[in-house]
Amino acid sequence: MAFEKNILCIGAGYVGGPTMAVIANKCPQYKVTVADINPRRIAAWNSDNLPIYEPGLDEIVKAVRGRNLFFSTEIEGGIREADIIFVSVNTPTKTFGAGAGMAADLQYWEKTARQIREASQSHKIIVEKSTLPVKTALAMERILTSTANGIHFDILSNPEFLAEGTGIKDLEAPDRVLIGSRETPDGLKARNELIEIYANWVPRERIITSNIWSSELSKLVSNAFLAQRISSINSISSLCEKTEANITEVARAVGMDSRVGSKFLNASIGFGGSCFKKDILNLVYMCRHYALDEVADYWEGVVKVNDYQKERFILNMLGAMFNTLAGKKICLFGFAFKANTGDTRESPAIYVSRRLVEEKAELVITDPRALINAETDLADIKEKIDFIKDPYEAAAGCDAIAVMTEWEVYAALDFEKIYGNMQKPAFIFDGRNILDHSNLFKIGFNVFPVGKPPLTHF
Ligand SMILES: NC(=O)c1ccc[n+]([C@@H]2O[C@H](COP(=O)([O-])OP(=O)(O)OC[C@H]3O[C@@H](n4cnc5c(N)ncnc54)[C@H](O)[C@@H]3O)[C@@H](O)[C@H]2O)c1
Repeated sequence: MAFEKNILCIGAGYVGGPTMAVIANKCPQYKVTVADINPRRIAAWNSDNLPIYEPGLDEIVKAVRGRNLFFSTEIEGGIREADIIFVSVNTPTKTFGAGAGMAADLQYWEKTARQIREASQSHKIIVEKSTLPVKTALAMERILTSTANGIHFDILSNPEFLAEGTGIKDLEAPDRVLIGSRETPDGLKARNELIEIYANWVPRERIITSNIWSSELSKLVSNAFLAQRISSINSISSLCEKTEANITEVARAVGMDSRVGSKFLNASIGFGGSCFKKDILNLVYMCRHYALDEVADYWEGVVKVNDYQKERFILNMLGAMFNTLAGKKICLFGFAFKANTGDTRESPAIYVSRRLVEEKAELVITDPRALINAETDLADIKEKIDFIKDPYEAAAGCDAIAVMTEWEVYAALDFEKIYGNMQKPAFIFDGRNILDHSNLFKIGFNVFPVGKPPLTHF
């Protein structure tokens, strides 16, 4: 069958894989290829064990793989064949040189730009899917047009707003799709071509357009605003713990104001994931670059409060457990940075694990999906930790449970049984406020939620 369009995505990660699977599923008339430099990742995408867990992803990939969705390590051939190329390589925080710890590391992205330039033999539309600093498209244009081979490229910005754990749902019914372009005849034509792809399943009024710099900036600002809400409610959770106010009651009262809204107001141990911190730091770095220090300080505060919340959680544990954790066995319920994903990047559980080991606690970690990543994240202290899939087995013999991830299964566990097999006094630190605290207290646990008065038997 001849396909109407050849789409290539460079980068087969948490964004590239699911995004392209949904495009292939919704648009059988296009051939969609996802390419990556990592052969293990591509082999996994071509196997029965996909490299990432995302509800609904397996079904879609199995339905379209080999039909119009292909995973490959052959990047150059893919570039030559493609009409439109999505770039969704990783853009982590830089760990070296100028801007280390703040700026985005653009080396993977730049290599891709050069590779596109070298392999292209015809006009292409290049779509920035990765999250990038403002004005990156300009650098992309400069790289692509820096040889006199006469090939014309149009650069679009089309940031991805999916949230892991609900990625497929977000891709199938997005709040909005944002497409930024140059406002030139060529730019507008390219923008229309991309609109046409999304219009196969996204209502037209949800596909919004802007100039290219607004689009790049909107992604950073979206993540900054989401993270800011979490830090806002978490900052108030610390005040609640001092004043006997209850953060759930406060959040409900505040969130019922329609100007504020009720979402993203759950107090917790803090946000994680590969994006929020990195994107805020990127924003902060840009603000400093433009000498907007007050603005930079404001956004940096969001990350500081998040770090404070994690450390506060440890100090609360320490205080509650008689100021020593040495030799105590503590079970972490969950390691993924959020529920319904196996992704552990920047998970608060990493920080908590390291701090607990520092306090000489013995650690047991359980998670339905993230144990392999947990072992990798904690490879250097692995011998001090047990990784056990079954939560009952994991909690047996422990002094305390600390809930790190809001997996639904945890709320449904038989806590009488768990309590029966734990050391006494038994403690629960609910870092996600997902458990039935009064019931746990009745069973005999000493319960420490976030932002609410603890329920203790002494
Ligand atoms: N993870 C999310 O929830 C999410 C959501 C929205 C946006 N984003 C953004 O999307 C981008 C990708 O994120 P991710 O989570 O998918 O990252 P990821 O690390 O899971 O995947 C990136 C992939 O790119 C590949 N890659 C790197 N350089 C390459 C090259 N030169 N050629 C081919 N492949 C190459 C890597 O091998 C890796 O498989 C980032 O900019 C991120 O900020 C992520």
